[in-house]
Amino acid sequence: MKKIWVGTSWKMNKDTQTAEAWASAVLPSLKHCSSRIQPFVIPPFPYLQMVSSLLSEQLIRVGVQNICWQDEGAYTGEVSPLMAKDCGASIVEIGHSERRAMFGETDETVTLKVHAALRHGLTPLVCVGDTAQEKQWGVSAESVIRQVKIALYDIPVESLTQVVIAYEPVWAIGEHGVPATLEEAQTIHQAIRSALAELYGANVSQNMVLLYGGSVNLSNAGGLIEQPDIDGVFVGRTAWEADGYSELLSIAERSGS
Ligand code: 13P
Repeated sequence: MKKIWVGTSWKMNKDTQTAEAWASAVLPSLKHCSSRIQPFVIPPFPYLQMVSSLLSEQLIRVGVQNICWQDEGAYTGEVSPLMAKDCGASIVEIGHSERRAMFGETDETVTLKVHAALRHGLTPLVCVGDTAQEKQWGVSAESVIRQVKIALYDIPVESLTQVVIAYEPVWAIGEHGVPATLEEAQTIHQAIRSALAELYGANVSQNMVLLYGGSVNLSNAGGLIEQPDIDGVFVGRTAWEADGYSELLSIAERSGS
């Protein structure tokens, strides 16, 4: 049975005290988590090492919100995959829509970063999404599949099942976002799954992890997780409080049981 992934990125939020408080508060839920669930948390870089050591005994995986595609050198302001790994990360978020919209992330840099993460044994968590305009034009699936294809360009087939893809509609993310309906989310997930099957075969496609993100909350999480092509949720606001994250873990635990 495939695992259900339940993760959160804190984006640019929290400080030492609140980061530590979150990690301590979710510990009891993590201790009770069954092996059916794959929890993960992606703090900002400065709190990576602390969060990863506080939670090191648990099943939870810790990640970073970005990496450079180079290993070292004159790249002021960047963090290399080796540094992320050295500080406890095993997941690298790549291509979040906020990075694409505000920080110059392109499909080209996304694929470079996917290659870099895999080169160092890190799990790339590739975010893809359609804009409101693309949704209106009826090209959501095309847009998202194009992003997936470029992200995975030239990745050896045997490495593909180490890649996680998160479908995060741009129109669904954040305070002004409207969550995708279960049907909208499943439709795009199914389209991604079929495209992957066409490219790499049904076996690889079935074994790849596809997550949904964008205004996931305590009311829609269970339904999303139960969609046939959705393997878990990637959550912002609802999981920033430890109680919200713990409740999401319980929802995942109850789903399909
Ligand atoms: P929200 O859950 O706050 O909409 O954020 C989703 C997201 O961007 C996760 O990467």
